[in-house]
Amino acid sequence: MSDPLDLLFIDVTDPLYEGECDLRFRVLREPLGMSRSTVAFPFEADSLHLVAATIDGAVMGCVLFHPDGAGGGRLFQMAVDPSLQGQGIGRSLVEHLEAELTERGVESIELHARDHAVGFYAGMGYAPFGEPYEEVGIPHQNMRKTWGD
Ligand SMILES: CC(C)(COP(=O)(O)OP(=O)(O)OC[C@H]1O[C@@H](n2cnc3c(N)ncnc32)[C@H](O)[C@@H]1OP(=O)(O)O)[C@@H](O)C(=O)NCCC(=O)NCCS
Repeated sequence: MSDPLDLLFIDVTDPLYEGECDLRFRVLREPLGMSRSTVAFPFEADSLHLVAATIDGAVMGCVLFHPDGAGGGRLFQMAVDPSLQGQGIGRSLVEHLEAELTERGVESIELHARDHAVGFYAGMGYAPFGEPYEEVGIPHQNMRKTWGD
């Protein structure tokens, strides 16, 4: 059994940010043959960054959220270190993010799910909408979850 991870909201000036970017590169970019320069999004600094980190500061999971300023926004860059996948870390990250967003008055999340991750999001109440499409060279499906009144 591995040690529990801390779930922390950080910004791009946090010392953990470099580890977050490393994880995003290893899990989401390198396997697709993409370069490290493709990790950062244009709206990186305007997004929430939630990381799952060990007590020693190793980032083992992350998820980002970019608010649209109208009560919704986009969840993106969801990643868990391959050595820890399937142990509930991804679910914890999404649930923690949703709780924080609820506090902030956000009531709707959209995301671009990779085909193989559709079941993961569906298990947490996200519903597909629109037609499947290709992004970063692989099939994707838009999904959405809305709560509140
Ligand atoms: C997808 C990913 C974030 C899931 O994180 P994880 O920590 O492995 O998932 P969890 O262990 O928290 O799983 C939560 C639930 O989803 C289910 N699940 C996980 N991956 C799934 C999948 N690919 N398809 C269907 N269900 C899945 C689990 O069985 C679990 O179900 P339960 O709560 O009923 O037991 C992780 O596997 C990952 O980083 N994959 C590679 C990067 C990626 O594809 N990111 C998503 C880009 S859109």
